[in-house]
Amino acid sequence: MKIEDIINLQNKALNEIEAAADSETLEAVRIKYIGRKGLIPDLMKGLKGADPTDRPEMGKRVNELKNTFQEKFSERRNQIESSRTESGDKTFDVTLPGQWRGLGKKHPISYLMERAIDIFHALGFTVADGPDIETVFNNFDALNHPPGHPARDATDTFYLSDGDLLRTHTSPVQVRHMLKHSPPVRIIAPGRCYRRDTPDATHSANFHQIEGLYVAENVSLADLKGDLAHFAHEAMGPETKVRFRPHFFPFTEPSVEVDFSCHICRGDGCRVCKQSGWIEIAGAGMVDPGVFEAVGYDTGTVTGYAFGMGIERIAMILFGITDIRDLYENDIRYLRQF
Ligand code: PHE
Repeated sequence: MKIEDIINLQNKALNEIEAAADSETLEAVRIKYIGRKGLIPDLMKGLKGADPTDRPEMGKRVNELKNTFQEKFSERRNQIESSRTESGDKTFDVTLPGQWRGLGKKHPISYLMERAIDIFHALGFTVADGPDIETVFNNFDALNHPPGHPARDATDTFYLSDGDLLRTHTSPVQVRHMLKHSPPVRIIAPGRCYRRDTPDATHSANFHQIEGLYVAENVSLADLKGDLAHFAHEAMGPETKVRFRPHFFPFTEPSVEVDFSCHICRGDGCRVCKQSGWIEIAGAGMVDPGVFEAVGYDTGTVTGYAFGMGIERIAMILFGITDIRDLYENDIRYLRQF
């Protein structure tokens, strides 16, 4: 092998690169010269047989050949690529509309659940979980519902054939948690609930709640109000007001219903708040001693508050949704706007 052989091969290779008119031909040139069994690797193998005095010089030349080949090859490939796009090659029509890939978005209910978890997390609450299918004991008995309580009625509650039921609130998670953990307890439990309600603008047979439970020494109604007010301010803005109205629940004493001032009309009255300026968001109260007894807590040393907030209610005033059913129609055009 002589130095001329290298020079000849170089000239030939560069001419062929220059002459390649499309990427297929150019690729063939690449394989021919620097593919695994190409002419340049071949030449390198041939170096071994060259005259030892010429060998260093030849080695240098072959390396140069390889580098020059790579350089010219890339140049030519870029030329071919850009001329293809400029001339509107058949394989790529720049006038076609792009492929639209819809970006996903969280459902308003998921968004609010996650937001609520974050807010309560910052107050030291952890998330507890329970199943949608519950026992009568967890859903009613342990929560102090007397045998004839109307909520137990089959016209209000979905019973399964084995006697279990679809939980009517997230409160059974309180029971499950307290049976397994001793105080202090500070949990929230977000989840689905089921009631035999006829769907209308503000009712759905399947809705979502966030349960809260805080049991320790000296927990008071003031803690409840402070924590719910903090939640309202974080979730809906610092101007949101919170009010308690006396109420009754079998498992809390005293019990309250919690209203937030309407986010839409700022309390003036509108369609969403039915002109009252307030929206009922939660049921709450101090845990009834009867519940502590059912789960084996010492009523002499601990007190606790509990609340159950309706997520849909919050979504309605936060986003100005006038019909709860719109949340479940799964019309992406509608849901996308929140
Ligand atoms: N579970 C009650 C309901 O669904 C709300 C509630 C929770 C009330 C906790 C008091 C304490 O209406």
